[in-house]
Amino acid sequence: MQREPGTNEQKLAETANALVALDKGLLALDESNPTCNKRFARYGIPQTEEMRRNYRELIVTTEGLGEFIGGAILYDETIRQKKKDGTPLIKLIIDAGIIPGIKVDGGVKEMAGHPGEQICEGLDGLRARLAEYSQLGARFAKWRAVITIGNGIPSQACIEANAHTLARYAAFCQEAGMVPVVEPEVLMDGDHTLERCREVTEEVLHSVFDQLYRQRVTLEGMILKANMVLPGLSCPQQETTIEIAEATVKCLMRVVPAAVPGITFLSGGQSAELASERLNAMNMRFKARSPWALAFSFARAIQQPAWEIWQGKEANVVAAQQALLHRAKCNRDARRGEYQGD
Ligand code: 13P
Repeated sequence: MQREPGTNEQKLAETANALVALDKGLLALDESNPTCNKRFARYGIPQTEEMRRNYRELIVTTEGLGEFIGGAILYDETIRQKKKDGTPLIKLIIDAGIIPGIKVDGGVKEMAGHPGEQICEGLDGLRARLAEYSQLGARFAKWRAVITIGNGIPSQACIEANAHTLARYAAFCQEAGMVPVVEPEVLMDGDHTLERCREVTEEVLHSVFDQLYRQRVTLEGMILKANMVLPGLSCPQQETTIEIAEATVKCLMRVVPAAVPGITFLSGGQSAELASERLNAMNMRFKARSPWALAFSFARAIQQPAWEIWQGKEANVVAAQQALLHRAKCNRDARRGEYQGD
C-alpha cells in the first residue's frame, strides 16, 4: 500500500525529478578504492589516495559539467575529500549545480550456497551512515546488485535476495530523505543471447518492484538504474542498435511502473560510443511515449576517454576535462535523440 504524499515524499519526488531534468543524467564517480586503483593500474597511474583525489578534483572542476550532468555519485572517500586549496569537493559539485549522491552498498560478495552468484552487503548500520551522508550534503544514494547469467543461473533465490535487499536499502534512503537509485545490474559477461538477457532482466525487475511495493517505497521518489537489454559480450549474434533499443524499452514497459520518474542506464562495459548510440536510439523511438525519462548513469562510458588522456599528469588535465565534457554532452544529446556519433 502506498502512503499519501507528505512533505518528505514531495521532497523526494522533487529531487528524483531534478536528477533527470533538462535531459541531463548522472555521472557515476563512485568507483570503490580497489576498482579505482584497478583502472589507474591499466593506465600506469600510481594507486594512491592523492592520485584518486587529483582525479576526482579534475572531474568536479570541469567547467560546464552541470549543463549535462544532473547528479554525481560519490564514494565514501570522495565525499570527504578536499581540493588542494581546501574546498570540499562536494561544495564544488553543489556550486556547479549538480546534486551530490553517494554509493552505500558494501560491495558484492559470493552468495552462500549459490556458486557463481552474488549478493551485496551493507544493510547493517545503513541508517546511521545515511544520516551522516545526508549531513555531508548527499541528497541521493546508490546500491548496486549484480545478477550473473550462466549455466543454470540466476537462481530464484539470488534474484529474490537481491530484490529484497535493494528494497530494504531504498526504504532506509527514503526514511532519511534521500532518493534511492536502485540498481539491479544484469551483467553483460557471457555468451547468452539478447533474448535470454531480456528474460532475466524482466524477471529481476518484476521481483524488484514487487519488493519495493512490499517495503512501501514511494515510486515517485526513486530512480531505477537498469542495464540495457544486450546480447552477452561473447555471443556470436550481436543485434543492431535499433533492435537493442526496442528490446530494452519493450522489456521496461512491461515491468517498470509509470510512477517512476526516471530510468538511468549503466554502461556495463559497452564502449562510450555504443552506450550513447543505444541511448540515442531509445529516445528517438520512444521519448514521446515513454512514461519515464530514459537517461544515463554511466561511469566507464563517460570517464574512459578522460582516464586515457590524463594518465595522472597535471599537463593533461585540461585535455582530459575536455574529453569528459564531450562525453557528457554526447549523452545529453542522446537523451534528446540528437546524438550524431563522434
Ligand atoms: P558503468 O557505467 O561503468 O557500468 O558503471 C555504472 C555504475 O555505477 C555501476 O554501478
